[in-house]
Amino acid sequence: MSVKSRRSLLFVSGALLAVAAVAVPVVAGTAAADPASANQPRIVGGEKASLSDHPYAVYLTDAGGNQFCGAVIVSSTAVATAAHCAKAVAKQDIRVVAGREDKRTTDGQVLSVSKVWVGQGYSDPTKGTDIAVLTVRGQFDQRPAKLPDSGDAGLYAKGTQATVLGWGRIADGGARSDYLRSAEVPLVSDTECKTDYSVYDQRTMVCAGYAEGGVDACQGDSGGPLVVGDTLIGIVSFGDGCAKANKPGVYTRVSTYSDDIKAQAKPRLLG
Ligand code: ARG
Repeated sequence: MSVKSRRSLLFVSGALLAVAAVAVPVVAGTAAADPASANQPRIVGGEKASLSDHPYAVYLTDAGGNQFCGAVIVSSTAVATAAHCAKAVAKQDIRVVAGREDKRTTDGQVLSVSKVWVGQGYSDPTKGTDIAVLTVRGQFDQRPAKLPDSGDAGLYAKGTQATVLGWGRIADGGARSDYLRSAEVPLVSDTECKTDYSVYDQRTMVCAGYAEGGVDACQGDSGGPLVVGDTLIGIVSFGDGCAKANKPGVYTRVSTYSDDIKAQAKPRLLG
């Protein structure tokens, strides 16, 4: 390897480490340490998706316009996202970008955040409760996703095909997609996910993916929606690498937090 490409590799992994320090939870230590896996795509094995099918899919940027996470509209004034996303950037620097399929355009809305609610007891994605609600200044033009009834277990039957949405790189070498992408992934049983991840907690998490891997969310998709139809069942939370065999994506189990999300999402007349 030439000195130059070594240098740029170092530079790239340094930059990724800086991002990883805020956006990537502990289990992903491997992804940050290994430049090859850092080049993995974000939504793996998916395809270009349309906001006309999923208008509630939004992304978060910092004040400089850099996308760092996904999120999902849950009312005219609020989005749900991962707690680790909400904590990655100071409240006054978070922007919610809605109605923009292609990051290179100025389509849709860019709203700032007036309030951040983080799930009670949250400390780290691998310990569960990786959920947050951001209240925006202004109102969304797009319709919200539906929330499950609290504790609705029926939605989480093993094998149910769900759709995960996010903005990010495409496979190999980091050719980055500016478009919203989606992938279909089957829900994994609690027993199976517990064997895949010792930290798995069925009350606060749900897993989705194929045993053979190949299709998954990845770094940068965190906070984004996992839906069945228009119902939000999961929030991208963590995984061991991306799209690896027997390492499904781990999502926040939204039904456990439906009541909290609804309470936070109520449009407020004051403030
Ligand atoms: N923690 C990652 C993020 O901050 C999301 C990882 C999801 N990984 C997975 N294999 N599904 O973007």
